[in-house]
Amino acid sequence: MTKNYYITTPIYYVNDRPHIGHAYTSVACDVLARFKRLSGCNVKFLTGTDEHGQKIEKSAVLAGMTPQAMADANSGHFHDLTKLMNISNDDFIRTTEPRHIASAQALWKKMEQGGHIYLDSYKGWYSVRDEAYYQESELVDGKAPTGAEVEWVEEPSYFFKLSAFQDKLLAHYAANPSFIGPESRRNEVISFVKGGLKDLSISRTTFSWGIPVPGAPKHVMYVWLDALANYLSALGYPDENASDFKAFWPADLHMVGKDILRFHAVYWPAFLMAAGLPLPKRIFAHGWWTIEGEKISKSLGNAIAPADLVTEFGLDQTRWFLLREVPFGSDGNFSRERMVQVINSELANNIGNLVQRTLSMINKNCNGILPNGSVKDSPVGITGINFEEAQLFIENNEFDKYTNRVIKYASEANEYIDKQAPWALKKLGKLEEMGKVLYSLAESIRKIAIFIHPFMPESSSKILDQLAVPFDQRSFHHLSETFSLIPGTVLPPPQPVFPRFIEKTT
Ligand code: MSP
Repeated sequence: MTKNYYITTPIYYVNDRPHIGHAYTSVACDVLARFKRLSGCNVKFLTGTDEHGQKIEKSAVLAGMTPQAMADANSGHFHDLTKLMNISNDDFIRTTEPRHIASAQALWKKMEQGGHIYLDSYKGWYSVRDEAYYQESELVDGKAPTGAEVEWVEEPSYFFKLSAFQDKLLAHYAANPSFIGPESRRNEVISFVKGGLKDLSISRTTFSWGIPVPGAPKHVMYVWLDALANYLSALGYPDENASDFKAFWPADLHMVGKDILRFHAVYWPAFLMAAGLPLPKRIFAHGWWTIEGEKISKSLGNAIAPADLVTEFGLDQTRWFLLREVPFGSDGNFSRERMVQVINSELANNIGNLVQRTLSMINKNCNGILPNGSVKDSPVGITGINFEEAQLFIENNEFDKYTNRVIKYASEANEYIDKQAPWALKKLGKLEEMGKVLYSLAESIRKIAIFIHPFMPESSSKILDQLAVPFDQRSFHHLSETFSLIPGTVLPPPQPVFPRFIEKTT
């Protein structure tokens, strides 16, 4: 039976344009979605934009726009980002869409019917930038622990009985060790919950840019309750018989940045428990990027637009670098120098060189016809990477380990080519031996191309095209010998795949 797999990115705030931090989350999810599709799963991959709340309203006022106009413009930029980065999302949800509004209100009603919501008034600190409430004791020098400004808020508010879920949450974390990753973040969440949970204010009355609370239109829903509901809205909730809801809920993975883990690993499961819905299987928090050592910030004006990287370095090069540079889960620093290094050493000089040397030798010495050989002769790939291992890395969200193995495989194949020196075999007239070497190299390249597909889909296809691999034989199932390259196949003329990046001198 085909396994269903539902993966989500956070939905992005529309007060700003996308930068590489946003591209990072989306590319990571895209790699997972593509990996799962190539493994034969039926995938639903959701992304979108988070458009309500005080933060958006305030930014719109500052920009002299209506919140809706700002949301429309910036949601468009995030939508463009999916195209730019070749993100294979199946849906793009906007929280201003009627399907979402209806779903969020239904979720509210479900929680209310369960007796988990009550009316009171909120008095305390709020950070508009974080869209979060803070206790007095959490403040550091009068600011939120994140460094964001806080303001004093006093207003009538509905509350969610979060405190009643403390034990249930702890029991869930204990019974499901992979619910939160990585391990260090899981421990942080557990100690936060053990520290005690207070009831959560889930409606606001001092501004209006939000989803009206059912039956209390003076209140708008707290933007995090509104936003988290997107994961259900896109499946057709509240229709629990909707085919997508039946197939894809609970989600397999909510990918988030470390800054928003608490909302996903504490509030969200508690909301779902209150509504009687199953909990997602996993929430993974990745680290944050800095740029040349500095925090990405509007005031520093150092945000890198993903489009600039793609234009200068190439799409697949950018995707590869983002996931390659730092162990997923840790913070990373973007340095242009490192990006050039990685592109040149791993893509141009390693994988690219391997493909280029092998295919041009087949083109020149074998008239472009794949020579005779057998996978059995192939000494490469023994310590390379196999599907089970790759799958484990993917399940654990260990992109660096996955890509390390691919690079090691390509290095081994390059060592093999040097050692076997097919050009020397040609000179000695040992054409059959030369053919065997080239065949086994071509077969290794076929495997490498399939393994890199989730990370670099265009380059993978370009390589597989050059090996004349049929379109319907490019998934993990086709790694096996049964689908190995067929000697005698006419190959198209070779084309360079990963050009060396040369700094322009002005
Ligand atoms: N709207 C909320 C999420 C709601 S999900 C129900 C939000 N939006 S955001 O636009 O501020 O951030 C979206 C994602 O981008 C978050 O996962 C965040 O961690 C990530 N990043 C934003 N800046 C980043 C870096 N500098 N580095 C890495 N990821 C970063 O939060």
